[in-house]
This record gives sequence, C-alpha cells and structure tokens, in this order.
Amino acid sequence: MKHRQTVAESHERDGKAGCAVDSEGGSFLQKSMRVTIFGATGLLGEALLQEWKQDEVVGLGSEDVDIQDAAQVLDTVQRTRPKWIVLAAAYTDVDGCESNRDKAFSVNCQGAVNVAQAAAACGASLLFLSTDYVFNGQSSTPYETDHPRAPQSVYGKSKAEAEVRLLQIVPECCIVRTAWVFGVGGRCFPDTILKLAETRPTIDVVDDQRGSPTHTPDLARAIVQLCHREATGIVHVTNDGECTWFEFACEIVRQAGLKTVVRPTTSDKFVRPAPRPKYSVLSSASRERYGIQMPQWKEALRDYLKLRVPGALVP
Ligand SMILES: NC(=O)c1ccc[n+]([C@@H]2O[C@H](COP(=O)([O-])OP(=O)(O)OC[C@H]3O[C@@H](n4cnc5c(N)ncnc54)[C@H](OP(=O)(O)O)[C@@H]3O)[C@@H](O)[C@H]2O)c1
Repeated sequence: MKHRQTVAESHERDGKAGCAVDSEGGSFLQKSMRVTIFGATGLLGEALLQEWKQDEVVGLGSEDVDIQDAAQVLDTVQRTRPKWIVLAAAYTDVDGCESNRDKAFSVNCQGAVNVAQAAAACGASLLFLSTDYVFNGQSSTPYETDHPRAPQSVYGKSKAEAEVRLLQIVPECCIVRTAWVFGVGGRCFPDTILKLAETRPTIDVVDDQRGSPTHTPDLARAIVQLCHREATGIVHVTNDGECTWFEFACEIVRQAGLKTVVRPTTSDKFVRPAPRPKYSVLSSASRERYGIQMPQWKEALRDYLKLRVPGALVP
C-alpha cells in the first residue's frame, strides 16, 4: 500500500503527550494521535493534509485503496491503526450519479459502510463527510441537524443512506454535513467563474438557489477541531452567511477586479440531470456547540483568491 503523504510532527507513535495548538490559537495538552484520511487526493482532502499539522496523518486516494473493497479497507485500517478515520472519499459527480446509480451507491454508501465496519472492528473513531443534498431543498430557514432527510438526487440518496447505515454501525460517529465547497487545487465554482470571465464579457448565473459557500481550509480546520473535541453526532459546517450562486459569482468578479458582467438567471434555463436544491443553508448551531467559528463566506473568498492568484486581489 502506498501512502500518498504522511504528515508527522515527530510525536512518538504510541502516544506520548504533546502540546498542540488549535486553530483558534489556544494551546492544550493532548496526545498526538494517528489519523487516516480516505479521499485525501480530493478538494477537501488536500486541504486536510495542509491543515492537519499536529498529528500523524496518513492520506489515501483511490489508487491507494478502493473503499468499495471491504478487505482492502480493513487491511488499511489495521495497518494504519488510527485513532480517527476521516472519510472524505466519495463519488461527487452529482450529475454523473444520476446515470451511474450503482456506482453512486457502491462508492458513497457501501464504501462508507466498509469504512465504518473497519472502524468498528479496530476501535477507531469515524468522521464522515456528508452533504446538504440529503435535504429536499424546500426549506426557507436554515436546516437543523435533525431535519428529516428527503434527498432529491441519486447522489443525495446515496449519501443519506450512508448516514443512516453509519449511525447503525458506529452510533457515536461524527457526520459533518457541508455544502458549496470551494478551494484551490481542483474544480470549483469560483475557479469556473474566473476562467469564464477570462473570455466572456457576460456570464449568466442562477439566482434562485441559495446556500453557504465553504472554503476548504476553513472546513478542514473545523474537522481537525471536531476530532480533537471527540465530536459525535451530526454537525453542520459551512462558512457563515448565505447567498445565491449569482451573488457568489458577482462577489468573485468584484473581488478579482474583473470587468465581466454577471447576469441573474433561473434554474429552468439550466436544466441538468440531477435536481439542485433551491435552499441549502445549514444552521450553524451544531458547530457552535463545539465552539467552532467559521469566517464569513466573503472573507473566505478573499482568502481563496489570495491563495489562487497571489498579488492579484482587489481589496
Ligand atoms: N464538493 C462539494 O461541494 C461538497 C459538498 C458537500 C459535501 N461534500 C462531500 O465532501 C467530501 C469531499 O468532497 P470533495 O469535493 O473533496 O471530493 P473530490 O474532490 O471529488 O474528491 C473525492 C475523493 O474521493 C476519492 N475516491 C473516489 N472514489 C473512491 C473510491 N472508490 N475509493 C477510494 N477513494 C475514492 C478520490 O480519490 P482519487 O482522486 O485518488 O480518485 C478523491 O480523493 C465528499 O464526501 C463529498 O460528498 C462535497
């Protein structure tokens, strides 16, 4: 098995106490722990590897281990002996899931079950990444964690079923639902808008879907904190504030200092294989119970632009 990257700040393997500093700047005495990340080659996984400094982290992509293979997963967990498993691996092509239902359920649900069973067998804690797509998108107030699941797409159904199965296998697991994830190093909405803006005088963007953008380094830091705080249950983590995709695009163009005109349009002009939720805002109450603060999305966008094009930011 190939380990894609190991981040170890040389704490002793079997648990000598070390002094760690959390992302709010507070220091606390705790044992350095082993962490295994499935999905470490993805948009969030890359940020997790960047942000997770104080523990021994093993990051794995699909070439290292296929989560659909229960034996491989168990072998991996037995070898890496993690205190925490972070399961960020998923088949995330929302439209692709509509025409590849078997793959969606095999990776997103059965794959998650395989990881949960390995976690249970090895006594590891489990943090699973889930999504706003488990809801029906019809609300007009932020979704609380106990709002009934009613996924509308195959992707949402595969993740919702995974949540239910995981809670049966590892009842004390932590499920982090997030939404509208963006970050450097992969395809994401701001990247698409910035690339389109290079060649187009106008861009039409839907103004009837509302959510909260989430910058991967902020999400990654929240995940590290949740693991250090032994979090259990469902926790919603996005950047603070909300907007439509149109408002998000306007802010991207404004902050990047571009001349492109962004025009509002409606979802019926952009029919796609998977239905998109009209409303995806997730309540922050569950993360606040763990003392986790998240920057406003406009601030997070500023950070993203600094990371993406250093020096090209318009204040
Ligand atoms: N992106 C969003 O807007 C968003 C929103 C809400 C929730 N989420 C959730 O957040 C998590 C991370 O999303 P992301 O955007 O970082 O995803 P991503 O960029 O698409 O990365 C997916 C990761 O999963 C791995 N993977 C895929 N199939 C696998 C398999 N069969 N076995 C092992 N690994 C496999 C990929 O490995 P390779 O690259 O090596 O193939 C990659 O590391 C996912 O659980 C997703 O459902 C994402």
